Amino acid sequence: MNHFTYQNGELCCEDVRIKDIAAQVGTPFYLYSSATLRRHFTAFESGFAGMAHQTCFAVKACSNIAILNLFAKLGGGADIVSGGELFRALKAGVEPQRIIYSGVGKSRRELAEALQAGILMFNVESPQELDRLNEVAAELKTRARIAFRINPDVDPKTHAYISTGLAKNKFGIPVTEALQEYLRAKTMAHIEIVGVSCHIGSQLTQIEPFIEALRKVKAFIAKLNQEGIQIKYVDMGGGIGIPYDDEQPPHPIDYAAAVRAELAGMDCTLILEPGRVLVGNAGILVTEVQYTKRNSGSEKRFIVVDAAMNDLARPSLYGAFHEILPVRETAAAEKQQADVVGPICESGDFLAKDRLMPEVQAGELLAVMSSGAYGFSMSSTYNSRPRVAEVLVSGSSFEVIRQRECYDDLVRGEAVSGLC
Ligand code: LLP
Repeated sequence: MNHFTYQNGELCCEDVRIKDIAAQVGTPFYLYSSATLRRHFTAFESGFAGMAHQTCFAVKACSNIAILNLFAKLGGGADIVSGGELFRALKAGVEPQRIIYSGVGKSRRELAEALQAGILMFNVESPQELDRLNEVAAELKTRARIAFRINPDVDPKTHAYISTGLAKNKFGIPVTEALQEYLRAKTMAHIEIVGVSCHIGSQLTQIEPFIEALRKVKAFIAKLNQEGIQIKYVDMGGGIGIPYDDEQPPHPIDYAAAVRAELAGMDCTLILEPGRVLVGNAGILVTEVQYTKRNSGSEKRFIVVDAAMNDLARPSLYGAFHEILPVRETAAAEKQQADVVGPICESGDFLAKDRLMPEVQAGELLAVMSSGAYGFSMSSTYNSRPRVAEVLVSGSSFEVIRQRECYDDLVRGEAVSGLC
């Protein structure tokens, strides 16, 4: 359920007409509904009510500090994967004790920054990272709270690029080797073992792989207990899918019920790292049609818009489907196949391929739906296209939460070299 609906033939975000925002902000821009963000967060949370848990929003999905702040005000924490994400989370007012740090390549500097901030827990992904963290914590005369991210070797049945819990993926420590690492960590003066974590992939449309992974985690915790290692936190990662097209992902409430049932009787705080499910359908990308064309010798129709693969990488990168709606509602007119493409000089630059689209004219606005997750946060300035604006709506008001970049932003930090 989201708050992007047609009212009197005009696509609105809550009570604001998208065309009015476009007139003021220009195109393209990302647009988020705060009512949808709040609704998704509270729906997700409600499944875990009464159970010790902490929801840590996966910052990578949508990193704008206004959005992080919105979730922080609702009690959310942050799942971070870089020093930059730590900086954002702190700036947005996320409490350090609600921040967890995942990722296979944490640098010394990043570890030190997170230790100094006093985050809740590091999800350690390799023996070498454990050694480095112990060293850095010693230098800072502190102790690092850790979980190991275990790789449960479960097939999440999702796109290969976003599957992370298979033995062949780079993530985590094989469950077979994890015990010896916990035993090693137990002997380290600057390490405090507090948890076990796992994250098996993204855009999962079934509950079973989560439960299979959780069972492996539970069995592993039993082994740890036998070794006298007590676990306070079980981190289930993120991964619940959303409907982009006709997918039928589990409802967060059903997911929560299955997780609760599995964890019954365990004296642990559950940590969750949802990203997409909170923001995916709370954001859209608004773009303006520039040209329409047909190339001779081909029946192919192209709708050239002002947004491109640098603004929304998912279609080019994963062949991902995003529904595209006209901002001005069209009568149920005849639709024809078209590619919706951007101005970038690559054939891979498309937002939709062979899509049934109504007749559209230059100057019309289109809404690329379900773009709130991994949309702006994966955007780049490829082809020297300044990054677009981000706008947040609340009721009948809207606010620019990130200015459109300008040409000067493109060359910031660059210099004409004196060497040549
Ligand atoms: N926790 C960890 C350790 C993760 O690696 C991820 C996502 C999440 C949580 C959040 O997963 P979510 O709930 O959003 O599925 N760019 C891709 C998705 C990459 C996901 C990376 N990790 C896409 O656009 O589909």
